[in-house]
Amino acid sequence: MKLKERESMDLIDLKNFLDYNKKIKKEDQTFQKLMFIYEMAIKELSTKIEIIKEEYKFLYDYDLIDHVSSRIKKPESILQKMKDKECKLTYKEMIENINDIAGIRIIIPLKKDIFSVRNLLQKLLGIQTIKEKDYITNPKKSGYSAYHIILGVPIVLAQQLIYVKVEVQIRTMAMDFWSNLEHKMKYKPKEEPDKKTSKEWVNYAKMVNKLEHKMML
Ligand code: GTP
Ligand code: MG
Repeated sequence: MKLKERESMDLIDLKNFLDYNKKIKKEDQTFQKLMFIYEMAIKELSTKIEIIKEEYKFLYDYDLIDHVSSRIKKPESILQKMKDKECKLTYKEMIENINDIAGIRIIIPLKKDIFSVRNLLQKLLGIQTIKEKDYITNPKKSGYSAYHIILGVPIVLAQQLIYVKVEVQIRTMAMDFWSNLEHKMKYKPKEEPDKKTSKEWVNYAKMVNKLEHKMML
């Protein structure tokens, strides 16, 4: 199938199916193929990041990176995000507007190394930088802190070179600890009585930041 044909196809089948089954139809080959391409981009980039991690560990005896994790966004979350952004439900719109279908998280021990890791990623052969967000220098209102970068990862499929978007989040272990707990709290059922206020979570973020700084002195 030519790329043009594929891009203009409708997500409508997928939408109808998700509405009553929350699962994706096995027959929806186009969607499956696109997800396969995102998977390949994650594999490609994760391997490169693992090599950086091992290089620093074995050649310089330095723990630059603690660990790397990745995920593909669930079909129902993709659809929800497209609705929130008021996108047309086509694959073209999905590819253009949803930047975090493929996601990689790099967890590092030391805050001072965040920008070095960012630089190493940007120097990787063939990798393009599409967008960057520095929530290290300017944390979000919620208290959330991390460095986000959308990279274009080159993939050769059927002798065609394509750039696939991957969202990379670089965080310290302390930032990751805060953000995982905050995320869990945010998505707890509303009836929970002990839901912490956002102001408290901003304070926790500041405390974690201070603690991390003190422990490294
Ligand atoms: P979306 O990806 O559409 O949300 O758009 P955006 O461009 O505003 O994304 P942004 O780069 O700000 O954040 C995307 C991701 O960062 C989210 O999917 C989360 O993984 C993480 N994130 C952002 N803000 C918060 C926050 O307040 N708390 C936690 N726990 N995670 C956050
Ligand atoms: Mg996201």
